Amino acid sequence: MINDMFQQHINFAHTHWQRLLLSGDTAIDATCGNGHDTLFLAKLALTQSTGRLFAIDIQESAIQKTKTLLQQHLNDSLLQRIIFKHGCHSKFDSELSLNSIKLIVYNLGYLPGGNKQITTQAQTTLQSIEHAMDLLMEGGLISITCYPGHNEGSIEQSELLKLASKLDVKQWACSHHTWLRNQAPSVLFLKKI
Ligand SMILES: C[S@@+](CC[C@H](N)C(=O)[O-])C[C@H]1O[C@@H](n2cnc3c(N)ncnc32)[C@H](O)[C@@H]1O
Repeated sequence: MINDMFQQHINFAHTHWQRLLLSGDTAIDATCGNGHDTLFLAKLALTQSTGRLFAIDIQESAIQKTKTLLQQHLNDSLLQRIIFKHGCHSKFDSELSLNSIKLIVYNLGYLPGGNKQITTQAQTTLQSIEHAMDLLMEGGLISITCYPGHNEGSIEQSELLKLASKLDVKQWACSHHTWLRNQAPSVLFLKKI
């Protein structure tokens, strides 16, 4: 029960991903961390022969944790459809085509149980989102979970809200979901119309 209360934002985001992502789609987890979100996306998008998933993290240890979790739950043919990238998400793989990705997810902040100094930063997050907007297909979604409870997370959330509020409403439907708890995480959706 308590756990559910603190995971509201995660469950909320997952419910929306589940509605959107179909098997055979391509998705990106731009902050794969411990791999929980990547595994959730893999189960939705991948089949033995279709779908692609990119998992990115700036920490090699996070990439390894994600690989280990996925290996425990997925068979080899599904694993082969996942591309891991160790590095900053401000630069995506050059092989990705514009307007080709259905869902791009960011679970911002630092790795739970890891070094809190290695956290997403407003400047590189904004650069990444700008690229993500070009990669997204029509009808696709960028899902961003923000953590305003720490300093960098608070700056990041307010910069992201500024960006979202300036987007052309004919091309983007943006919504921001918050919970009435002090400094609670929030979920920002940018949907390409
Ligand atoms: C909240 S955790 C992600 C949790 C993860 N989605 C999961 O399900 O376990 C945030 C992650 O973002 C990563 N990160 C921080 N800055 C980054 C950057 N510039 N590019 C890519 N990943 C970054 C951190 O290393 C950390 O693993």
